[in-house]
Amino acid sequence: MIKHHSNHVQMKKILSFQIVILAIGLQVFSIACTQQEVVQGPGTVTKKVFGKLPDSSVADIYTLINHSGITLKVTNYGGRITSLIVPDKNGKSDDIVLGFDSLSGYLAANPYFGAIVGRYGNRIAKGKFEIDGNKYTLAQNNGVNQLHGGIKGFDKVIWKAEDFKSEKSVGVKLSYLSHDGEEGYPGNLSAVVSYTLTDDNQLIFDYSATSDKATPINLTQHSYFNLAGKGDNKSHDVMISASKYTVVDSTLIPTGELRDVKGTPFDFTVAKPIGKDLVATGGNPIGYDHNYVLDTKGIKDLAVRVVEPLSGRIMEVYTDQPGVQFYTGNFLDGTITGKYGIVYNQHSGFCFETQHFPDSPNQPTFPSTILKPGETYHTTTIYKFSAK
Ligand code: GLA
Repeated sequence: MIKHHSNHVQMKKILSFQIVILAIGLQVFSIACTQQEVVQGPGTVTKKVFGKLPDSSVADIYTLINHSGITLKVTNYGGRITSLIVPDKNGKSDDIVLGFDSLSGYLAANPYFGAIVGRYGNRIAKGKFEIDGNKYTLAQNNGVNQLHGGIKGFDKVIWKAEDFKSEKSVGVKLSYLSHDGEEGYPGNLSAVVSYTLTDDNQLIFDYSATSDKATPINLTQHSYFNLAGKGDNKSHDVMISASKYTVVDSTLIPTGELRDVKGTPFDFTVAKPIGKDLVATGGNPIGYDHNYVLDTKGIKDLAVRVVEPLSGRIMEVYTDQPGVQFYTGNFLDGTITGKYGIVYNQHSGFCFETQHFPDSPNQPTFPSTILKPGETYHTTTIYKFSAK
């Protein structure tokens, strides 16, 4: 009996010794894992959980680092770019996009910070259009018009994400199946958007899609930039290779007229600071929120160049799209506080949303945005960064 008891004690000791060893092992393993995350470096893509949506689905965040000092963060919630850290002319790095450091910021109301916009970027008048005699009515979310794909557009859905790497680039491929009837659009649309960050500091957006019914499509990226990392956008020098813009009515729907920029506040054919003619635009709220008709002939031609004089940061835009919406954050009003506690006041950032012209489905003279079954929609836009 006594012997049995002492055996029992012995066994218990061995067992607790084993548990301690196991616990130490687990500890070492988890430290090793954490360290692996910490030591991620150039040429890597790392995935982490970003947070949970109210429906319990999980959003991830991907960190992409190239070999030239740029770090990009992208979440598969709306394909949103949450952070873009870029060196200035002295090698000092700053985050040059507006946004939030947690998912809750993106889940709360915000004006498309960093998002993929679709199924139709920009406005469709009264949320109505007709294809081959079939009339469609979309969700109206901007007065009577539809803006940026509706109430729950591509900026508010979870995209399937897959990271990829090559010798000179890192990237994330995002896919989303938009069902027939979603936000009023016809056809099951399968969309794929990939973000590639190259070692020569290009951020390449490649969009493609197919649909089983004819549908309008106009995908774009809605990142707000501030090349100084803070302050307003007024001292940024901007050049837009466009000699015309689409004139809009008071609800920002094109009248159909393409007007010469020459002699107007809308002329950016020669670089000038955003602030120079900002008030003269006469908009309500003040600022640029206009679609420029690009003079470029394709992706090889420079469409936009922005220079921030103090940091020396330069952003160039190349695109195969016919237009670009130049938006100067006119609706930002100080009610949103973003990363680093920065309050987003009016004109805190600017967007260059490469696109087809607004309301194209209702404007017969504008290039068509209708994707038919059997066709593939494919467009590319590049943002290129440098500093001097
Ligand atoms: C686009 C539109 C603007 C505004 C912003 C989001 O740039 O053209 O009018 O709606 O998106 O606030």
